[in-house]
Amino acid sequence: YPKAFIYDLDGVITDTAEFHFLAWQKIAQKLDISIDRQFNEQLKGIGRMDSLELILKLDPSLSELSNEEKENLANRKNELYLELVETIDSSNVLPGIEELLAANKEQGLKIALGSASKNALYVLDRLGLTHYFDYIVDASQVSKGKPDPETFTAAADALGIEYPACIGIEDSAAGVAAINAANMFSVGVGDAAQLSDADYLVEATSQLDFEEIVERYRHQTA
Ligand code: G6P
Ligand code: MG
Repeated sequence: YPKAFIYDLDGVITDTAEFHFLAWQKIAQKLDISIDRQFNEQLKGIGRMDSLELILKLDPSLSELSNEEKENLANRKNELYLELVETIDSSNVLPGIEELLAANKEQGLKIALGSASKNALYVLDRLGLTHYFDYIVDASQVSKGKPDPETFTAAADALGIEYPACIGIEDSAAGVAAINAANMFSVGVGDAAQLSDADYLVEATSQLDFEEIVERYRHQTA
């Protein structure tokens, strides 16, 4: 039986993945680059500076930006992102998530967050969900971001739970890769084209059902 669920934040618990995209899109526009949702798939789960680097690579003439200019762009992106985050509250928790958290608790499972965001604590707080979490891993705690497994292994280590007894939930390809590399059971939420490596895939959070996930987990690890 699984012992812990480790949740990604942006795009799983709430739709802040969209806010990250909208903020990056404005930054890109300022640089005369256009990014679409297809390109954005690569940015999901990727840290702020690494995301900026991926965007800058789209225009070779931007390869000489100074570190200071890059810092300014990243800071501006975060301001735009926070303007959007300031509008959210508990009504912005995605469908099915609070039910799943409650089921985890009822069954005595541990709950952790595994996010690459520096804003993770703030977002979770705005959603009113902090009290569910036994442990929170955010950008400040990992040296190697997703797809490296560290985000997920750090959470399991802190909880004192062996990796194969953990189930990770992710909306990004990098995140699913990180969960798999941690030797945990991966649940993907979203598009099959992006998340084909997930051990179990659903299209939307409304389809996340505790019993079903445990069933799939037990089937795979039997
Ligand atoms: C998450 C999101 C990414 C974002 C990263 C850093 O992983 O999926 O889109 O770039 O966090 O977020 P931050 O809030 O620190 O800029
Ligand atoms: Mg995500």
